[in-house]
Amino acid sequence: MTTLLAARRAGKSFDGVSVLRDVDFEVAGGEVHAVVGENGAGKSTLIKLLSGVHAPDSGGIECEGEPVRWQSPHEAQARGISVIHQEFSTLPDLSVEENVHLGIEPCTRLGLIRRAERRRRTRALLQRLAIDLDPAAEVGRLSVADRQMVEIAKALARRARVLILDEPTAVISGREVALLFENVRRLRTDGVGIVYISHRLDEVFEIADRVTVLKDGDHVATRATRQLDHDTLVKMMVGRELAAIFPPKAAVGGEGTVVLEAADIAVPGQSGHADLALRRGEVLGLAGMVGSGRTELAHVLFGAMTSPAGTVRLHGRPREDPSPASSLRAGLAYLTEDRKRDGLFARKSVVENLTTITLERHTARGLLRTGSEDAFARSAIADFAIQLSGPGIAVAALSGGNQQKVLLARLLAAEPAVVLLDEPTRGVDIGAKAEIYRMVRALADGGAAVLMISSELNEIIGMSDRVLVMRDGSIAGELEGASIREEAIMRLATLHPVMAEAGAEAEAGV
Ligand SMILES: Nc1ncnc2c1ncn2[C@@H]1O[C@H](COP(=O)(O)OP(=O)(O)OP(=O)(O)O)[C@@H](O)[C@H]1O
Ligand SMILES: [Mg+2]
Repeated sequence: MTTLLAARRAGKSFDGVSVLRDVDFEVAGGEVHAVVGENGAGKSTLIKLLSGVHAPDSGGIECEGEPVRWQSPHEAQARGISVIHQEFSTLPDLSVEENVHLGIEPCTRLGLIRRAERRRRTRALLQRLAIDLDPAAEVGRLSVADRQMVEIAKALARRARVLILDEPTAVISGREVALLFENVRRLRTDGVGIVYISHRLDEVFEIADRVTVLKDGDHVATRATRQLDHDTLVKMMVGRELAAIFPPKAAVGGEGTVVLEAADIAVPGQSGHADLALRRGEVLGLAGMVGSGRTELAHVLFGAMTSPAGTVRLHGRPREDPSPASSLRAGLAYLTEDRKRDGLFARKSVVENLTTITLERHTARGLLRTGSEDAFARSAIADFAIQLSGPGIAVAALSGGNQQKVLLARLLAAEPAVVLLDEPTRGVDIGAKAEIYRMVRALADGGAAVLMISSELNEIIGMSDRVLVMRDGSIAGELEGASIREEAIMRLATLHPVMAEAGAEAEAGV
């Protein structure tokens, strides 16, 4: 195997803070090389050096054995290096074929786009990925998983020889992950070198040939995955053995007063109607495929979306004029799954982000008491182990996982009685996950009612006192106690209603 792209003793600092030191990394054609490490370990920074977003301060980058100094991502792309970032770069208003060939349109000598040729090429690329998409479809209307595939097709159209995927499965689940993996394997067979970043270690074992571990900017090791097991890898990442990840569940489940109740909620774009009752002191898991309506249901409960039918009751009273603001005032909080779009203020400081919804607490006679605000921010940063060079820095400069911690810290500071969490540990490392689980359980033990949406089944199973499984906008079934098992959840998430009910009964031993 020939090495296509490498970092040699690469180092990088931001504002005098060193975030990568002496890192060696190689990816060969025909291999999947995973990069793992805790939040802030330097994974995204490493790929930004490899792909020309940043230049290394020390050491260097080699492309096909030759030292290079990328002046821009375009230059790296021209040499066959493509990155699929978590925030997609496709343009929603353009079609699939326009996106795939953006800037590299096949043209006539007069500079006119050869549309038939572009369509033919797009079809061939989609076929290579074994996906059934209309080249003329508008990208903004596609599912997240399909948009990811368009990104990959776009990379292939640029003759990518190295494909770098930064947490690609943070936004997809189940069948979509299986499809992505099929395509990764296909590209590997074609000789493409793949760099794969993920916090889901089971995926790393499934797909990667080698794995590189980074810790606090240092290169810990690079090993063949078949020489490793899960626990060894975790120990290399966190530098210690991890105790139990999930805290003990509620002693008495399902007996608290119902605080949030929804009946006959219709989720936009779905055929079904959903009912649910959320109780004090419990963690209620909401499972289901991406696209089954979980997030939309949470939006309706939070007042961020209206349902054409049904009612929502909070503490027994029907909600009049629901809105996010009135929900927050009533002690109902929602943690968004999309921290980029409607969670954080990227250009504002960490302190400002932490206190936006609890500002009045730090205000006296209309004046902001910055001392109080700073003290609160300092304790939140310590409690959640948020890594940053100083509280004045912009949230955009934090690593993905640390942004998620800011969002959660801000929400819990409001001490809500009802909490809706949408993918609370997305992009968060394993140590911080354990910490978040502990906090969520403490919240429930303190009497709050918690609804937790998650696409990670082990998280649903490890955390929930009860589980609702959603499919096509309705609740396909409920599981409790020992019947909360992977097969049962998957069955409910994918089967026909009648069959699913029979399945749930069998699972519950009825
Ligand atoms: N543009 C920047 N300015 C200042 N600091 C930065 C910048 N980009 C990254 N950092 C810092 O560099 C460190 C490494 O960040 P990086 O994004 O590489 O981590 P990561 O391993 O990808 O983490 P995660 O798993 O949370 O995505 C972090 O402490 C981060 O705050
Ligand atoms: Mg990252």
